[in-house]
Amino acid sequence: MNIAQVRREYTKTKLNKNNVHPDPIVQFNKWLNEALESNCMEPTAMTISTVSENCAPSSRVVLLKGVEDNRFVFYTNYNSRKGIQLRKNPNISALFFWSELERQIIIEGTVEKTSTEKSDEYFGSRPWKSRIGAIISPQSQPIESRNVIKKAFVVEAARHIGDSIPRPPHWGGYMIDPNRIEFWQGRPNRLHDRVLYLKDKSSVWNISRLAP
Ligand SMILES: Cc1cc2nc3c(=O)[nH]c(=O)nc-3n(C[C@H](O)[C@H](O)[C@H](O)COP(=O)(O)O)c2cc1C
Repeated sequence: MNIAQVRREYTKTKLNKNNVHPDPIVQFNKWLNEALESNCMEPTAMTISTVSENCAPSSRVVLLKGVEDNRFVFYTNYNSRKGIQLRKNPNISALFFWSELERQIIIEGTVEKTSTEKSDEYFGSRPWKSRIGAIISPQSQPIESRNVIKKAFVVEAARHIGDSIPRPPHWGGYMIDPNRIEFWQGRPNRLHDRVLYLKDKSSVWNISRLAP
């Protein structure tokens, strides 16, 4: 197959600077709800990008677990590759692509860790086996084989039979405080609609339309 010839027209709907909500968080929640109600496979999946000390970017998918106090929350291992990068440089970008809706949202901002209470609360709500997995997996580290992880899982699970499993300190949440949010709606002939919200120094969101 000639992938250079793979393309589709986007025709579902339009996006206009004059009829988006003045608050991008409200607009985000509206689009997220539409994604949740559509047949998107992973509507809460977002690609987050972080940068190394040398400003080299890296990306991976995580799941959005809440939008609270105007911030976007996800959970991970604080000692993972992304965790180490965020410790040194809190700048982050998060991208949602809902192909079924012909929509993309790009969020840029900085992260802070969620409170320990908040991380505890979410950790406690995860399935028991996922909690065990979070304890034993040295996320992003090289391991000898899958067996290493399987054995560690069995040993750790045996230690916790009947208990609620406390959150390990290396695992918890981050909140993205956004300063730039772009909403993209696919349109015919590649003349897509792009609406940008930029936060100014007094924390007011300014809205503009960008060329496709
Ligand atoms: C659909 C999907 C959801 C994921 N959700 C998470 C998540 O919420 N948290 C997480 O740490 N990793 C999640 N992952 C795994 C990450 O993409 C990644 O492999 C892991 O966090 C290690 O990334 P790092 O080595 O860049 O730190 C998810 C992957 C996929 C494909």
